[in-house]
Amino acid sequence: MIKLRNINKTYKTSTGPLKALDAVSVDIAAGRIFGFIGLSGAGKSTLLRCVNLLERPDEGQVLIEGEDFTSLPYGELLKRRRKIGMIFQHYNLLSNSTVYDNVAFPLVVARLPRTEVRDRVKRSLDTVDLPEKAGDYPAKLSGGQKQRVAIARAIAMNPKILLCDEPTSALDPHTTSVVLQYLKRVNEDLGITIVLVTHEMEAAKMICDSVSVLERGRLVETFDMTDETFAPQSDIAKHLFGNGAGI
Ligand SMILES: Nc1ncnc2c1ncn2[C@@H]1O[C@H](COP(=O)(O)OP(=O)(O)OP(=O)(O)O)[C@@H](O)[C@H]1O
Ligand SMILES: [Mg+2]
Repeated sequence: MIKLRNINKTYKTSTGPLKALDAVSVDIAAGRIFGFIGLSGAGKSTLLRCVNLLERPDEGQVLIEGEDFTSLPYGELLKRRRKIGMIFQHYNLLSNSTVYDNVAFPLVVARLPRTEVRDRVKRSLDTVDLPEKAGDYPAKLSGGQKQRVAIARAIAMNPKILLCDEPTSALDPHTTSVVLQYLKRVNEDLGITIVLVTHEMEAAKMICDSVSVLERGRLVETFDMTDETFAPQSDIAKHLFGNGAGI
């Protein structure tokens, strides 16, 4: 379980303080796929980065499996962070490294034995159905394949949680659904909790168990996506969900 408690974050900007997150509290059950949706600037990325404390909240707590990450010494935080993977809209692959070396990179940094690295890279590339691309460079891959390599790189570390920041926003609708199905596979087969940030309701509907709507730093509503009768109350949720909730 990930518990976010009263998360507040204000950025200093040239035009004065900007409240990016305003008293956000939410529970994300272990083993689920949880979505955050909202317009540009709503605070989605900031909130996601608060989960692994890449962004430190000014106020509030991040509790993961009962442990308060906000009060961990930095060294301990770094250790825990290894169990929290992250993927991004623009993949963040190393362009001068092969697919194999991209997936191996965090394992080598973590000083895993060479045979363990080889096994984990193979297993991860098998999971995203790209074993034949191991020797290729990212430039030769499509956007969807690059994102699958990024997923492989993240799962190679055996994370418990995978944070996904707009992972399909640069992809066409077909490729989006392919990549989302791999995230679902990772969730179901490996038991990894997924937190998915998106501005695309279609993406959220496709794989999320629950979705929270953010607006100007506030958490407005949370929906159980398996409940077909859910009805958005707020204007922003109605806008994002379109006419009628309809899964
Ligand atoms: N490092 C920063 N310094 C100052 N302001 C920031 C910083 N990061 C984010 N912001 C501001 O905080 C607000 C929330 O930003 P955030 O990136 O979390 O939004 P978002 O919902 O992810 O948007 P998008 O959909 O465009 O990615 C925005 O107004 C943004 O301009
Ligand atoms: Mg963002």
